[in-house]
Amino acid sequence: MPDITRVGVCGCGLMGAGIAQVAATAGFNVVSYENDAHALERGRARIQQSLAKFVEKGSLSRADADAAIGRLRFTTTFDDLRECDLVIEAIVENPVAKKDLFARLDALLAPHALICTNTSSLCVMEMAAVTKRPTQVAGLHFFNPVPIMKLVEVVKTIVTSQATLDTLLAFARTLGKKAILAQDTPGFIVNRLLVPYLLYAIRMYEAGLASKEDIDEGMKLGCGHPMGPLTLLDFVGLDTTYYIAQIMFDEFKDPLMAPPPLLKRMVLAGHLGVKSGKGFYDYPSQPHSQSGSGAGTRT
Ligand code: CAA
Ligand code: NAD
Repeated sequence: MPDITRVGVCGCGLMGAGIAQVAATAGFNVVSYENDAHALERGRARIQQSLAKFVEKGSLSRADADAAIGRLRFTTTFDDLRECDLVIEAIVENPVAKKDLFARLDALLAPHALICTNTSSLCVMEMAAVTKRPTQVAGLHFFNPVPIMKLVEVVKTIVTSQATLDTLLAFARTLGKKAILAQDTPGFIVNRLLVPYLLYAIRMYEAGLASKEDIDEGMKLGCGHPMGPLTLLDFVGLDTTYYIAQIMFDEFKDPLMAPPPLLKRMVLAGHLGVKSGKGFYDYPSQPHSQSGSGAGTRT
């Protein structure tokens, strides 16, 4: 298994921008690929803002932040990923789009390259199966906001090779993350627990059992969570949560995983959370911002 020097990241949304940032900060040359030029520009701005925050706090020098930016190449040309040793896919949570991308990556990349997915809930083996290198495919599941959250789930399919896992565990360590090993089951470890909890908070609110503020305060002050569940849903993205819930419900047929009717209606209305400026709360000043903690106006 060769060393990783050049990393590709597909998708420069909430997660892709964060993954590209932490890889560039750790010293990797990074190609950030998007199919939407506006999203690419928003992602680039998000990375610059995040690096500026670290410089402001003194946890990163201006020179190191500039060096990280210098290692990042932003592109809408798929062919620019060709030289990458590792590509991490962080596009929309849609199996058809992801499988199409995996097939194209498999045809483009050198035989030694690894391909990973940041999927929250999809079957990693389904993506591995469309490639001719299934032993070199795994999940690499980061947490939002990527520059702050310390965890990465390394997801092993039933055919991922030990050499691939060893490389990915070492890669996660180089990024300064703590890696945990998960099996290829929907939601892996964290989302298997987190998603039913978040969906249940929507059900409580939908049923009028408590106000959204009280639900959030309850979990913050009663359980020490940094964000209440409805604030966290806005932060993750209601569209992404809706896709995750559908995928997990399809797999388990467990009513606790089913998307609540209100979630579907909010997504249809374009109320996607922080990224659209409105979700359970309003975010008038920061559509497309990555940090939504507590910034929402109570409505
Ligand atoms: N880049 C750089 N710095 C950032 C940042 C970013 N993107 N986001 C926040 N920060 C910094 C802030 O500048 C601040 O720094 P100081 O303490 O030095 O001032 C610090 O982080 C804390 O931020 P805030 O004061 O704005 O707010 P906070 O104390 O509430 O922390 C938070 C923000 C870290 C996001 C915290 O609220 C939190 O941990 N929330 C829960 C996040 C969570 O649960 N994530 C998992 C989501 S689920 C998932 O990711 C999996 C999936 O598949 C869906
Ligand atoms: P997002 O909507 O913020 O970003 C997705 C980006 O992918 C968009 O900018 C879109 O233009 C781009 N894109 C879509 N199709 C593409 C393609 N074919 N090629 C290149 N770019 C493409 O979504 P996100 O929140 O960053 O989620 C991305 C992935 O990460 C999903 O699989 C999601 O489940 C997972 N994830 C999300 C979170 C979270 O908290 N939001 C946490 C962990 C994992």
